[in-house]
Amino acid sequence: MTEKKQTILSGIRATGKLHIGNYLGALKQFVDLQNGKGNLSAEASAKADCFFFIADLHALTTPFEAKELSQNTLEVAADYLAAGIDPKKSTFFLQSQVLEHAELGWIFNCLTPLGELNRMTQFKEKSEEQKGQISGGLLTYPTLMAADILIYKPTAVPVGEDQTQHVELARDTARKFNNRFGQTFPEPKTYLRKPLRVMSLTDPTKKMSKSGDEALMLDDPPAEILRKLKKAPTATDATKESPGVKNLFLLLEHFGSEEQITEYSHEQKNNTIKYSELKEALAKAIAEHFAEFRDQKQELLANPKTIMDALEQGATKARKIASQTLAEVKEKVGLL
Ligand code: ADP
Ligand code: TRP
Repeated sequence: MTEKKQTILSGIRATGKLHIGNYLGALKQFVDLQNGKGNLSAEASAKADCFFFIADLHALTTPFEAKELSQNTLEVAADYLAAGIDPKKSTFFLQSQVLEHAELGWIFNCLTPLGELNRMTQFKEKSEEQKGQISGGLLTYPTLMAADILIYKPTAVPVGEDQTQHVELARDTARKFNNRFGQTFPEPKTYLRKPLRVMSLTDPTKKMSKSGDEALMLDDPPAEILRKLKKAPTATDATKESPGVKNLFLLLEHFGSEEQITEYSHEQKNNTIKYSELKEALAKAIAEHFAEFRDQKQELLANPKTIMDALEQGATKARKIASQTLAEVKEKVGLL
């Protein structure tokens, strides 16, 4: 049976260079989907049209500095490219360079009841964290995200669990729009990535995050990886459950060899494990995994024009589709 062609879309905010949690939780899945290795069916994934972008407009919803924002955008773009997003295979672009997103976002703002935006979990959480700095943009974050998504009429949107409510809002927006103005948007499915949470190396009860301490950055040099891992808390009794140890094993599962996984799991059960050895092996494995990535990222950042050119070309491709959808929407809602 031939399956319907899939269109896949996702984005990451330009709030800082990416760490190993962003990689395992998001970026790696994007690269796999692009290369036909996602766990959509292999056939569907191989033929999928992929759109991956950097949500720089969404980066404005949390406190930011102009200089940092532009640097972060370049860093995230270099992270995407060095990790294997190939602009020849995927449409890779910057949200702010495809103006149609913001325009459709405005239309969706005007069609979305305030109550729906007010009840979004992320809005409530971030408003708590950012007391006194809550902008209109933080509230309307999900309508812009709905526009990011629906403008390409995708079939699947790979996001982490924290973003499923926003994809749900995009589906509601599509449904309501279709009911009122006639069939326009297919309702995209959330492609829920395997729940996976890399925890902080300093406090393994919290998730590793860009704003947290000592996140393991994808471009960290080998000595830095080892230094950060050495600090990670473990346990004195290996047979007892410890969040720090669990986190190290999660990393080992992704970056270690089969033999290492078997050997260290065995030693852990026997309580003979030396965590310093595990950390050294892990640091080496991670450093090796990202060796090529580091070189490529460095090369890209030394020549930001290459990055900007790739983004420009992606934006040109994206605009072709985005402008068609926007024209259709404007006509349907009565904008001349
Ligand atoms: P951060 O929390 O570091 O600021 P973002 O919120 O910008 O990261 O997340 C970008 C993507 O990376 C999202 O898809 C998110 O689900 C994923 N992600 C972020 N942190 C982790 C983590 N520690 N483990 C797994 N996935 C993560
Ligand atoms: N909100 C997403 C995040 O924080 C980033 C994002 C913006 C996004 N627009 C999107 C993800 C559209 C998927 C689809 O991770």
